[in-house]
Amino acid sequence: MYYGADYYPEHWPEERWPTDAEMMAEAGLNLVRLAEFAWTRLEPEPERFDFAWLDRAIEHLAARGIRVVLGTPTAAPPAWLVRQHPEVLRVRADGRRVHYGHRRNVCLVSPVYRHYTTRIVRAMAAHYRDHPSVIGWQIDNEFGCHDSARCYCEACQEAFREWLAARYGSLDALNRAWGTDFWSHTYRAWEEIPLPYADALPANPGLALDYRRFASDANVAFQRLQVDILRELCPSHFVTHNFMANGFQELNYYDLARDLDFVSWDNYPDLRRSDPAQLAFNHTCIRGWKGANFWVMEEESGAPGTTVISPNPRPGDIRLWSYQAIAHGADAIVYFRWRTCTFGAEQYWHGILDHDGRPRRRYYEVQRMGRELQRIGGQIVGSEVNAQVALIFDWDTAFAFQIQPNNASFDYFEHLKRYFVAFYRRNVPVDIIPWSADLRRYRLVLAPALYVLSPEAAARLRAYVEKGGTVLFDVRTGAKDVYNRVAEGPLPGLVADLCGVTVDEYDSLGPDVTVPLVFDAPIVSPQKLLAHTWCEVLAPQGAKVLVRYGGQYYCGQPAVTVNCYGKGRAVYVGAIANAPAYDRLVDELLSSTGVQPLLDTPPGVEVTARWQGQKRLLFVLNHTGTPQSVSLPGELQDLLTGQRLSGTAVLPPKEVWILV
Ligand code: GAL
Ligand code: ZN
Repeated sequence: MYYGADYYPEHWPEERWPTDAEMMAEAGLNLVRLAEFAWTRLEPEPERFDFAWLDRAIEHLAARGIRVVLGTPTAAPPAWLVRQHPEVLRVRADGRRVHYGHRRNVCLVSPVYRHYTTRIVRAMAAHYRDHPSVIGWQIDNEFGCHDSARCYCEACQEAFREWLAARYGSLDALNRAWGTDFWSHTYRAWEEIPLPYADALPANPGLALDYRRFASDANVAFQRLQVDILRELCPSHFVTHNFMANGFQELNYYDLARDLDFVSWDNYPDLRRSDPAQLAFNHTCIRGWKGANFWVMEEESGAPGTTVISPNPRPGDIRLWSYQAIAHGADAIVYFRWRTCTFGAEQYWHGILDHDGRPRRRYYEVQRMGRELQRIGGQIVGSEVNAQVALIFDWDTAFAFQIQPNNASFDYFEHLKRYFVAFYRRNVPVDIIPWSADLRRYRLVLAPALYVLSPEAAARLRAYVEKGGTVLFDVRTGAKDVYNRVAEGPLPGLVADLCGVTVDEYDSLGPDVTVPLVFDAPIVSPQKLLAHTWCEVLAPQGAKVLVRYGGQYYCGQPAVTVNCYGKGRAVYVGAIANAPAYDRLVDELLSSTGVQPLLDTPPGVEVTARWQGQKRLLFVLNHTGTPQSVSLPGELQDLLTGQRLSGTAVLPPKEVWILV
């Protein structure tokens, strides 16, 4: 298993390099990522390339058996490039061009920037294609970060019009799709079509959605420009990119993942107050973008910080977060960064080593795990997470909700997480999938808030239910077509008959308003089951009522229904609810679909499984600060300690078992 660090030798005197390599090897590291922000070092002036320093750094690492992932440096262009071609600078939604001096400040559509990109990537690829230490590439860095997903420059304007011409074929079709009769926007020439600049009023929703799609495609195309060069010159190397999570929803990540060998991502738990469920959700999303295992290319190894500093990872956190990533399908862990830099904008973003480069607590924790992985990593790599429950994430829907959230406190990712967390707490693995995935491998498919509903998506879900599957839909399903127009028929639009229900009325609630939910079979619950944010009053057309509202003018009206259709069932949840209500719903779904939790554990103890064929690796992680008793199903062996465990065993705080 690869286990490494993001290393910037160019930030340190060359005399230090052998010490770094030695200390890395001592910590069990066998990989570094290099060069991803080193363009000016690699091409100090136009077309003069200098790889000598990087070659020497790699030699020291190679002497210690450390392999290399090279980053292409296109997230931070040299000053000389921007000085010669200021038109490569990105333009913001308010029409202002950004300035040089940060990163991610260029337009990826710009033909000039693409020209320079091609040149540096070709030069690097040609130089390192046969290097025995180099195993793969990370393209650029975090596409879309720092509000860079969309650019509003002249080059983008022109490219957008071409993109629209290819999509719609004719202006008539475009005018119809966007409803340009509204406010007299009918276009008679492609040159008349504007970009959705930020203004007092929102742009036409059809235009806005297409611009998001276009901009996402433009990022994917910029990545592909580099992928193609690397595939041609370095056919034996892998190609990846480091994605983001924590609710980032500016680029279609299924599309971005398609051209890569695998997805990588950057995990900084402390930025989210290290909520283990959020971290699990992040890993699950990342595994979903390609439906495959992934790498963590930047794993937090010290306090994050730019101008102010976040809390330190507590003892045991770095190792626990790393094992949690592995538990969810990570096949490699790479820490950001090897040593905290003494200069530049990230002086306070702490790495494994502090500014002074001496080994301390965090180094020894990384080393402990490094030694463990040297023993057992080989048994884990490549094994797969097999979930029986799928959660559909749809990028058109995400984009459309970014444009019109419908309710000020609605967020699509956060909403999906409500369901995810209910399964997470029961140790039931979930996959994030697109609606176009093969649904047959799942016993239960959740499609919450599938707002932009195409006829193809509706047909697939219908076919899945017909053959015996269970699908859950909820609020705002089918409210929009693919042009971001509101559906004409009663909601939930194309799946109304599948759900056996129509939405009589919807009610967008104010921030502190809640509505009691009354379940059909009453239970004694210590917590109130409540709806908030959004309530739809349902009118069953054949569906059975599971839950009713217990307040507002729709008191007594249906809130949740279930419909038998073909050999399967469609559940419709008309409200956004609090956690106890989802817990209750999920219990019913689990018992009706026969999906079993991996293990029953106390709160704060997470369980996942990875499968090597028939062989199961059970990961048990104690995220709490106290010992936890876990009852095991039989005798199991912990790979980490070799201990045999059975009955009720005690897992120490922040500790991990990998049971076989
Ligand atoms: C990541 C980024 C790194 C570094 C790190 C710390 O998001 O990929 O290059 O900036 O954050 O700020
Ligand atoms: Zn642009």
